[in-house]
Amino acid sequence: MGELTSLLRIKHTIIQAPMAGGAVTPELVAAVSTFGGLGSLASGYLEPENMREQIRQVNQLTSHPFQVNVFVPESIPEMTAEDLTFWKKRLPELPDAHGLPDEQALWDDFEQKMNILLEEQVPIVSFTFACPNEQTIRRFKQLGTLLIGTATTKEEALFLEEKGMDAIVLQGSEAGGHRGTFLPSKGDALQGLISLISEVKPLCHVPLIAAGGIVERKGVEAVLQLGADAVQIGTRFLASEESAAPDVYKQAILQAEGSETAITKLFSGKRARGIVNQWMEKERPHEEATLPYPVQHRWTTPMRKKAAAEGNLDQMALWAGQGVGRIQSILPVKDIMQELSKA
Ligand SMILES: Cc1cc2nc3c(=O)[nH]c(=O)nc-3n(C[C@H](O)[C@H](O)[C@H](O)COP(=O)(O)O)c2cc1C
Repeated sequence: MGELTSLLRIKHTIIQAPMAGGAVTPELVAAVSTFGGLGSLASGYLEPENMREQIRQVNQLTSHPFQVNVFVPESIPEMTAEDLTFWKKRLPELPDAHGLPDEQALWDDFEQKMNILLEEQVPIVSFTFACPNEQTIRRFKQLGTLLIGTATTKEEALFLEEKGMDAIVLQGSEAGGHRGTFLPSKGDALQGLISLISEVKPLCHVPLIAAGGIVERKGVEAVLQLGADAVQIGTRFLASEESAAPDVYKQAILQAEGSETAITKLFSGKRARGIVNQWMEKERPHEEATLPYPVQHRWTTPMRKKAAAEGNLDQMALWAGQGVGRIQSILPVKDIMQELSKA
């Protein structure tokens, strides 16, 4: 435990989860770091130069360390005209003519982000959706950057360790948001956090960060007891004063029970956990017909944006973890950090 906190140069074993999509502001990240945790910027869906701007803003707000998280691009499988037509007919709002993501453009974006992270000398960088390639890892290691990977199975954790990650986030199936799963598995790779930590702990030598459904001190203590070295918490920070999540989304978090979330591919083409709403219920029969990530994501963006602007919960992606039922108030980060870290 001491090893990871001194590696990350933080006081408490609390990491605010990077959350792409707009909720994580530089103010939120800086507040978590200032109050002794590790704040995390999320670069997913951000333009590279916006990421640079946010890094500089956090640096102005705090002298404490923070991390930046990046999505590693994946190959986009072939789609047929019928697949696309199916969703053209079902979606209330459609993307413009440039609605199909270009794989090369995703890689160019990733490379630009890598260059900016190196230029800005960000001390800690984390990845999800895959493991970065050897060349990328080498470039960061030369600069002494600490690298964190995301695993949802024992196999992925061992793979990330072998590739040189300095710490690993173990994302249990309770977690809100997208699954970081990247290796094929015989089952569904939806392993709960207790069994995941217990299985990985005796095998991995790098520090482990537990994520999924943790919203209060008791949960933090439970996973530390199981052998985690720190925790990564998302949903609890979504319902903070510093979060830029729309108010209706924050209210939905306060009202939802722990049993009211589900994993779906309907919004993005990649499995993610969120509060069940009308769109998820209505489209559930078509779960297996979703377009691959990030095509489905791109295609549902106009619908989700319009719904968010109108405060319409029915068609927004309300990502949240299974701990949602224990969140009863929107608090400043300072108070959340105090509760999560009390001895
Ligand atoms: C709204 C939202 C967005 C997320 N975006 C990211 C992301 O950009 N990168 C990432 O590694 N994990 C992301 N996650 C997953 C978190 O890292 C973490 O696994 C999860 O929040 C833990 O579960 P909890 O929300 O129950 O605390 C996201 C989670 C949420 C709720």
